[in-house]
Amino acid sequence: MSTLIQKNNRELPVGFCDSGVGGLSVFAKFKQLMPNENTIYYGDLKNVPYGSKSKDKITGYLKTILNYFKSQNVKAVVLACNTTSAVAYEEVKNDYNFPIYPIIQSSAKILAESGVKRLGIFATLATINSGAYEKEIKKYNPDIQIYTKACPGWVEIVENKTFNNKASINLVKKYFDELMIYTPEKIVLGCTHYPFLTGMLSKLADSSIFIDPAIYFSEFIKKDLIKKELNNLSNTPGKEIFVVSANPEQFRISGELFYHIKNNPVLL
Ligand code: DGL
Repeated sequence: MSTLIQKNNRELPVGFCDSGVGGLSVFAKFKQLMPNENTIYYGDLKNVPYGSKSKDKITGYLKTILNYFKSQNVKAVVLACNTTSAVAYEEVKNDYNFPIYPIIQSSAKILAESGVKRLGIFATLATINSGAYEKEIKKYNPDIQIYTKACPGWVEIVENKTFNNKASINLVKKYFDELMIYTPEKIVLGCTHYPFLTGMLSKLADSSIFIDPAIYFSEFIKKDLIKKELNNLSNTPGKEIFVVSANPEQFRISGELFYHIKNNPVLL
């Protein structure tokens, strides 16, 4: 590869995707580590929530997003979404000529080797039903005990910002209590929307029990981009573009909790 091509590739944007604002929990961590990367974040608000949909539907949504990123000539795509990583990544992983980083598979090793013996997982119904967390973590640590809890309704609390509503408080407590029966030492927030619920969850337990995989995931992506010589060598802050398939204003307002989106997101 010539120097010129390497330089151009390095300046291409990294694509991030999720059904809505959840992926911003990953995006924010990534930008702390790699502030000079150019980025495009895709929020699929037309189809949120993914977690209650079929594998075929979720795979279709992901293909639409990846085809959009291909048209934008990205250098890599981050699946900042556990649900697509769990049910659709395997279907698409060889179909594109850029690296695709899935959150579950990229964070599994570090979770498996964390020293925790009883690990809880909160995630969407589709992620839990896929068994992806158990499968990926047990590859590295077959002895770890994993207890999972699907949390339908939590994504909607985040997208609609209904944190103080009584029904939301009860729903968060209900799934929390149901998982705590198994006395996990740590609980993975296995949906990128759930770190937005930390305020509510920390009223139920010390916040040190919760693991947000976004930090491990972002470190993994950084290392891999450097290894592939795809990291941007520029010294100036990267350009950030946000696109959505519906409701740009809702995205900006709900997303504000996690990341300051300067310009209104573009409606595709
Ligand atoms: N934030 C996504 C995840 O990590 C998708 C949630 C949803 O749309 O149900 O699973």
